[in-house]
Amino acid sequence: MNTISVAQAIRTRRTVRHYRPDPVAPADLDTLLELAMEAPSSWNLQDRSIVVITDTAGREGLTWATGGQPQPQEAPVLLVFVAETQAWQEDRADVYEQARRNGAWSEEFITGFAAASQEFQQGLAERGLLREYAVKDAMIAASFVMLAATELGLSTSPMNGWDEDKVKKVIGIEDRPDLSIALLMSVGYAAQDRIHPGRRSVRHTVFRETYPAA
Ligand SMILES: Cc1cc2nc3c(=O)[nH]c(=O)nc-3n(C[C@H](O)[C@H](O)[C@H](O)COP(=O)(O)O)c2cc1C
Repeated sequence: MNTISVAQAIRTRRTVRHYRPDPVAPADLDTLLELAMEAPSSWNLQDRSIVVITDTAGREGLTWATGGQPQPQEAPVLLVFVAETQAWQEDRADVYEQARRNGAWSEEFITGFAAASQEFQQGLAERGLLREYAVKDAMIAASFVMLAATELGLSTSPMNGWDEDKVKKVIGIEDRPDLSIALLMSVGYAAQDRIHPGRRSVRHTVFRETYPAA
């Protein structure tokens, strides 16, 4: 396989809505999921998870949850990115142990980091922002997957068009108010060519130092 640069992956990725039935090789799917885990997260909370759907019942469920979008009907793999809004309350000893073992974080750093992250998350809880912040982390992981998939010759479609309660029901978390759906993503081999729809220019969209006055 020819590898492509990150820049090429960014430039050539397109949203693909129609797929060939060819399955995604398990090794490729594993690679995508491992690379997703490399995405950064706020306070290294890793407060997102992915539910992989490949079977017919799950894909039919997501077809229902998306109001009939073609991606879950055609793509061999659907990924549901779940934002774990209460992950910060759970035991994080394994995360600190990894960083300790890697020599990345000192004991002193871990103590300070643990306290500061709890304080930060508590502040989010008070302002009703836990969901928003967990969704940010899930979306970064999803972006990594889209680019990694492009390198592997796979196509993707990010999807916002779904009913959250229905998606939660399909993946068996309808009784978990602590979990939110961040994004659905189809993965597979394109059955259509997509032309880049274009982007507004950097000049239009990027500002220096301050946002321009209205
Ligand atoms: C967060 C997000 C949600 C999206 N939701 C959907 C969706 O539900 N269905 C769909 O067909 N495309 C969806 N798209 C794809 C966009 O329409 C697409 O990215 C945009 O038109 C630009 O095309 P490109 O991705 O090929 O550059 C979504 C994209 C993003 C980033």
